[in-house]
Amino acid sequence: MGTYTITVLPGDGIGAEVTTQAIEVLKVIGERYGHTFTFHQALVGLAAIAAEGEPISDATIQLCQQSDAILLGAVGGIPQPDAKVKPEQALFRLRKGLQFFANLRPVRTQKALLDASTIKPEVLQGTDLLVVRELTGGLYYGHLEPSTPGKPSEIRQTANGIEAIDTLLYTEAEIERILRVAFDIAKGRHKKVTSVDKANVLSSSVLWRRVANRVAADYPDVTFEHLLVDACAMHLIRRPTSFDVIVTENLFGDILTDEASMLAGSMGMLPSASLGTRRTKHGIFGLYEPIHGSAPDIAGQDKANPIATILSAAMLLRYSLELSQEADAIETAVEQCINAGYRTEDLREEGKEVLGTKAMGQRIASAVARVTI
Ligand code: NAD
Ligand code: IPM
Ligand code: MN
Repeated sequence: MGTYTITVLPGDGIGAEVTTQAIEVLKVIGERYGHTFTFHQALVGLAAIAAEGEPISDATIQLCQQSDAILLGAVGGIPQPDAKVKPEQALFRLRKGLQFFANLRPVRTQKALLDASTIKPEVLQGTDLLVVRELTGGLYYGHLEPSTPGKPSEIRQTANGIEAIDTLLYTEAEIERILRVAFDIAKGRHKKVTSVDKANVLSSSVLWRRVANRVAADYPDVTFEHLLVDACAMHLIRRPTSFDVIVTENLFGDILTDEASMLAGSMGMLPSASLGTRRTKHGIFGLYEPIHGSAPDIAGQDKANPIATILSAAMLLRYSLELSQEADAIETAVEQCINAGYRTEDLREEGKEVLGTKAMGQRIASAVARVTI
């Protein structure tokens, strides 16, 4: 029985709809297991730009730092590539500023959802993989020159016309620490690591591969392989069950996980945890968010699937609060609701009951109240 503080950053679009349901589920966990959760809400993304003039304020960063964990919905609207201040900058400030370099994105195919996917059931059956995405380096944080770390990429006028630059830079230390996270996790799973790169083209990948080989030698009981990212994209839908832990560069991990979401049936199913090394008195400090965005096409219509966010809350309980039984309770409740035939619009299937965001959240919350582990 503990007392915990969680900062909730609903953000934009469907962000508020899905985080509201995750909070409802956490409240039921609190009642059932005797915990006190204090939720502090703050603005991020477009909502923060409108009200506070920036995608995330110093005060909000401070609130996050003072809490045991952060739960985020999504930021952004219809992309405005030319905007000077972008809502997505809130994510970068949180991830880089709080040093959440390891982004864990688990992908599991539930039996009852085999037919919801566009991929053949026999290919999907038994899929259980984890993408470990490097989150604070690579192309997202292009350095123009090594002497100006963190300087963003830019579009500039030169004597030869307009040009744009993004730089993919990794230090050996950054590569090594994410590889070690992947291997340490693989030891407790099915003991296989696939390191994904583009070493036939990119220098950063050549270094990545060199470091990966060196780290792999420290884990003789873990099966290790390299895969080029283009081939990985293909193998993910050709033979998803052959993967256990996939570790990769920031942008590769971003793209591969949107693809992998279709193994689980929908973008609305995949949670994530972003972790660094800092510990609070309860567990590892972390940022938890669904992998999907603000879905402007369905925002405000009670159509969004809240499961990815609810499962992110389960990851929060497991990693940041070390409440694994409570995390199991949420995951089991989600599975029970899916098995009972409840679906949101994104998973619409013949003969299954389609619920709105709120109704799905309520079903899961009531299942949490009853579930036995
Ligand atoms: P998106 O993930 O928001 O949506 C892609 C598609 O998936 C849409 O058709 C959407 O309706 C659907 N979808 C997404 N989540 C869903 C859910 N929970 N339930 C049902 N359907 C769901 O990606 P996008 O449209 O490319 O981006 C929209 C905005 O979101 C952009 O501004 C982008 O930058 C931002 N974004 C933010 C995050 C984040 O905050 N972590 C992540 C991705 C995208
Ligand atoms: C994600 C998103 C973000 C990313 C965007 C919105 C900056 O796609 O969390 O996967 O690319 O990391
Ligand atoms: Mn993404």
